[in-house]
Amino acid sequence: MSYSSIILLLIFSLLLSITPTMAGKPFRARAVILPVTKDPSTNQYISTIFQRTPLKPVKLTIDIGGKALWVACDKPEYVSATYRPALCHSPQCKLAKSTSCGNCWDGPRPGCNNDTCSNVVYNTVEKSGQIGELATDAFAIRSTDGSNLGRVTRVPNLLFSCGSLFLGEKLANGVKGILGFGRTETSLPSLLSNSLGIAKKFAICLSSSKGVLFLGTGPYVMLPGITISNLLTYTPILTNPISTVYPVIKDFPDHSWPSMEYFIGLNSIKINGKTLKLNKKGNGGTKISTVEPYTVLQTSIYNAVTKAFTKAISRVPKVDPVAPFGMCYKASSLGSTRLGPGVPLVEFVLQNNVTWTFFGANSMVYVNNSDVVCLGFVDGGKKVRTSIVIGGHQLEDNLLEFDVGRLRVGFSSSLLGRRTTCGNFNFTSRA
Ligand SMILES: *[C@@H]1O[C@H](CO)[C@@H](O)[C@H](O)[C@H]1NC(C)=O
Ligand SMILES: *[C@@H]1O[C@H](CO)[C@@H](O)[C@H](O)[C@H]1NC(C)=O
Ligand SMILES: *[C@@H]1O[C@H](CO)[C@@H](O)[C@H](O)[C@H]1NC(C)=O
Ligand SMILES: *[C@@H]1O[C@H](CO)[C@@H](O)[C@H](O)[C@H]1NC(C)=O
Repeated sequence: MSYSSIILLLIFSLLLSITPTMAGKPFRARAVILPVTKDPSTNQYISTIFQRTPLKPVKLTIDIGGKALWVACDKPEYVSATYRPALCHSPQCKLAKSTSCGNCWDGPRPGCNNDTCSNVVYNTVEKSGQIGELATDAFAIRSTDGSNLGRVTRVPNLLFSCGSLFLGEKLANGVKGILGFGRTETSLPSLLSNSLGIAKKFAICLSSSKGVLFLGTGPYVMLPGITISNLLTYTPILTNPISTVYPVIKDFPDHSWPSMEYFIGLNSIKINGKTLKLNKKGNGGTKISTVEPYTVLQTSIYNAVTKAFTKAISRVPKVDPVAPFGMCYKASSLGSTRLGPGVPLVEFVLQNNVTWTFFGANSMVYVNNSDVVCLGFVDGGKKVRTSIVIGGHQLEDNLLEFDVGRLRVGFSSSLLGRRTTCGNFNFTSRA
C-alpha cells in the first residue's frame, strides 16, 4: 500500500468514526430535525423518534402546545436497558414541578416502580389527562445544517412520561404517545436546548403528506435550494394567564400555571381586503394548534367570517355543506391557481402589524371524490375556552418558527408562492 493511500484510508476512517473529541472539540449540532407525516384518517401530524437501548423507532402525535413527551410504556413492548425512573424529589421531578411520590404494586418495570414521581400529561387529542411515571431513557436524533441530514446526535437521558395506552384510542394507528413542544421545561425544545446546547426554538413545516420539523437555529432550506427561514416576519408569543390544559380539574397544580400553548395577538380579520366587524366579546385569545385539523372560531367570529366570505364569492354556486364545514361550493366553478382554488383572501392581521394571509390552498378544503370544496373554518360554538384556534390545514405549506427564547413566532405565509412546499426537504443521506 502506498503512503498516499494509507493517508487516504486514515482520513476516511477518521471521517467514519464519529469521535466526539475530534480536534479536541466535541461535535455540537446547531439544529436537529424530525420528519413529519400526516395521518389521512385522523388528520394527526406524526413524527418518529428514536428512543431506548437498543434504539427503537416510536411514532408520536405532534402537539406543539403539549407539556412533555408522553410515551406508552405498556409491557411487553417497552424494553430498554437504559430506562431510569425518576426517584422522588430528584432534579427530574423538580424540573417537571412534580411533588408526587408513589409506589407501584405491579412492578418493577418501566412505568411502575417504587419511590418515583409522576407527571400529569394532557392528551389534547382525547382532551383528557393521564398520570405517567417520570423517567429518562436514551434518545437519538439527526442533526442538520438546514439543507441536509447530519450526524446522529445522542442524548443519554431524555426525560419523558411513561404512561399507558388505554386512553390512546383516538391516536392514529401505530402512534404510541404525544410529542409535546409547549412552553414548559419538559417539552422537547427545552430538553434538547438543555442537553444539546441548541437554541430554544423550533420550526414546523407541515403538509398534507410529508413535512419537517426543525429544532435549533436555522437556516432552513427546501429543494430547490430555497432558504425559507429568510421569509419570516414575526409577531410576539403571548401568555394566556388562564391555563388551557386538560382535564379541567381545579386541584391539579398545573391549573395555576399560565398557558403552555402558543398564543398570538389577533387584531383583525380581513376578507377580500375588507376588515370584519368582530364582536370583541370573543375571549380566550388566539392560539396555534397542530391537534385541531381545521381552524375553530367562536360562533360570532365564525358567522362574521362566513357572511363576508359568502358575499365576496356570491357568483359561485353553493352546495349542501359537508360536515364539519358550514359553507361549501361547486369546486369546478372556482378557478385554480398555484396557491389553491381561486377564492377571496382571508387575512389575519396580528400584533406588530404582521399579516398572515390564507390563500385558497389553506382556506379551502376539497371534499374527497366529489366536486365540492368547503371553507375550511369550523364553528366551535358560543362558549369556547379559546375564541380562535388556528388548526393544521391552515398551517400546511407555511413555515412557522416558534422562537421560545425570544417569545416570538415567525410566519412565512404560503410557500406555494415561493415555488416550494413543506414536503421538499432533502432527506436523502449523504453516501
Ligand atoms: C377525506 O378522506 C379522509 C380519509 O378517508 C378523511 O379523513 C377526511 O376527513 C376526508 N376529507 C373530507 C373533507 O371529507
Ligand atoms: C414496593 O413497595 C411495596 C411496599 O410499599 C413493597 O411491598 C413492594 O415489594 C415494593 N416493590 C419493589 C419492586 O420493591
Ligand atoms: C399595517 O400594514 C399595512 C399594510 O402593510 C399598512 O397599510 C398599514 O398602514 C399598517 N398599519 C400600521 C398601524 O402600521
Ligand atoms: C440531496 O442530498 C443528497 C446528499 O447530500 C445529494 O446527493 C442530492 O443531490 C440532493 N438532492 C437534490 C435534488 O439536490
